Amino acid sequence: MRIILVGYGVVGQNLTNMFLHRRQETVKDYGLNPKVVAIVDKGGAAINPKGLDLEKMLTIKKRGSTIAADKEFGVRDMSPLKVITSTEAEVVVEASSTNVKNGEPGLSHIKTAFKAGMHVVTTNKGPLALAFPALTDLAEYNKVFFRFSGTVGGGTPVLELAKKCLAGDRITATRGILNGTTNYILTEMSEKHVPFDEVLESAQKLGYAETDPSMDIDGTDAACKVVILANWIMNKKITLKDLDVKGIRGVTLADLEKAAMRGNTIKLIGTINGKARVAPTEISRSDPLCVSGVLNAVTFVSEFAGEVTIIGRGAGGPETASAVLRDLLDIRYNLADKLLT
Ligand SMILES: NC(=O)c1ccc[n+]([C@@H]2O[C@H](COP(=O)([O-])OP(=O)(O)OC[C@H]3O[C@@H](n4cnc5c(N)ncnc54)[C@H](OP(=O)(O)O)[C@@H]3O)[C@@H](O)[C@H]2O)c1
Repeated sequence: MRIILVGYGVVGQNLTNMFLHRRQETVKDYGLNPKVVAIVDKGGAAINPKGLDLEKMLTIKKRGSTIAADKEFGVRDMSPLKVITSTEAEVVVEASSTNVKNGEPGLSHIKTAFKAGMHVVTTNKGPLALAFPALTDLAEYNKVFFRFSGTVGGGTPVLELAKKCLAGDRITATRGILNGTTNYILTEMSEKHVPFDEVLESAQKLGYAETDPSMDIDGTDAACKVVILANWIMNKKITLKDLDVKGIRGVTLADLEKAAMRGNTIKLIGTINGKARVAPTEISRSDPLCVSGVLNAVTFVSEFAGEVTIIGRGAGGPETASAVLRDLLDIRYNLADKLLT
């Protein structure tokens, strides 16, 4: 499987690291032989149709420069679109930065890959949150696979649980804690009685929150994941603009204390039950969704199996790279099935 990797940050580097150290197992146990033929970052690309030396690629990137600094195969200032349209490959792994205003540059990377007949695996929520129905239609039209397990739950197989393990059942509602940063903040506020601003500052120092934390604390990150769940799991053709979204800035220690007196706590919950929304919500401390720290949890309410909850870490480089690997395997198996039919 020839792969073009767009974006060589935390996720991209963890993925190539995984390819390097798991090669034997992926080939022997799963029949997947990934060959990374191009890597692109903001400074340009490294391209070798015979497969790049991933150890060398990691060393170059860790020096802090662009991957295009590779003396043998580097091409400075070559754009991802140019790389996708001029390099032969089966799959594009899109792991560039998220943008929820217009989805770019990821949206164009994905569309260009589809039009070039390439399958796409992405960890980038932005394009999906803004254009999920259009992207899945375009993938279908071009007869290519589109996978995005790492966009919800990091390495925790939230989408696969609903799509594969509960296949045949009908999911009637979904609710979940879909953002680790806000869950960390609410947990600290509730358990240690520290006010919002102080916890946010310590979360930033610990690397749990970004310097600009608005994507997390205003609920946008969770809302992107709700859109993906609603479309992929519950077949609702919605985008980010269809959601009511409220973040956690307004949650006070007094609110949490009042909830505690009722045996409850407040969590940032994404809900799809009729309408889709994200809002701070009072839930019972005994609800399986009531997880602490940076954990994520999602409950699927299904017609026959009842309520099923999955809990796990919602982000992280190795975790998210493992979701990309699962998606690549899924594409590999689907392609093998196609050959048999
Ligand atoms: N990290 C996680 O735990 C996690 C979990 C789930 C989902 N995600 C999503 O996965 C994606 C990648 O995350 P990350 O943590 O790896 O981000 P990151 O470390 O910031 O890396 C982003 C990469 O994208 C490249 N890039 C950005 N704009 C580009 C452009 N116009 N052309 C070419 N390359 C471009 C950057 O290039 P430079 O290296 O030159 O800056 C960098 O290599 C994001 O969409 C993120 O939201 C991340």
